[in-house]
Amino acid sequence: APLEEVDLPLFFGWFLLSSVQEKVRCTSMDFLKTLDTLEAFKKHLADFTGKAEKEVDLEQYFKPKGALHCTTKFCNYGKAEGAKEYAENPAVKALYGSAFELSLTALFVTPRTVGARVSLTDEQLQLWPADAEQSSSLPPGSRAHITLGCAEGVEPVQTGLDLLDILALQQDGQQGEPAEEMELGSLTYYGEGRWLLSLREPIGAPACFSSFYG
Ligand code: A2P
Repeated sequence: APLEEVDLPLFFGWFLLSSVQEKVRCTSMDFLKTLDTLEAFKKHLADFTGKAEKEVDLEQYFKPKGALHCTTKFCNYGKAEGAKEYAENPAVKALYGSAFELSLTALFVTPRTVGARVSLTDEQLQLWPADAEQSSSLPPGSRAHITLGCAEGVEPVQTGLDLLDILALQQDGQQGEPAEEMELGSLTYYGEGRWLLSLREPIGAPACFSSFYG
């Protein structure tokens, strides 16, 4: 295709520096390894396997999905709604290629995905598209996350939807079921295989705002 037809990327986002990617992957692997062994998790194993008796190895269950990043705008090479407007946003142009520090404040697991919640600063929210939270009444930035892995046959777009689903429950006043105090933080169960670990210490992750063409 002629160059002018491919000027927009697959997506814009913050790309974690490789040293911190390693750290985040290790933390999430440790979390999955521990989650697997908890009685609270075993009690709800049928959410993952369909059968109460079967075992599940979460580290195998979730497949990694490439370089760790937090998508801001999925452009689909310009085919996604609002892609061109986003790329032309002065903040996007001004901050393209800049370094940021993302704050990872929670890890979450569902039968479909495992991800990290990213809590954006006001400066980072300038790069957040207005339509990301879709029809939900959650505040801008709620969907910000890093996909850490997906179950067989699940696309990474699901991770953000799973996060929005959990946050919508919280917004509705559903406290969830406190399940365990872990070294990393407090683990809560929200039913239907949805688990959220609020990190005691947020993980600071240096990242570059850029784009991915694939
Ligand atoms: P995520 O940001 O949750 O990881 P793919 O490989 O499927 O083309 O996706 C490339 C990246 O864009 C992934 O990071 C993915 O999800 C994100 N993504 C894919 N589709 C969408 C969408 N419709 N809305 C928002 N983000 C998307």
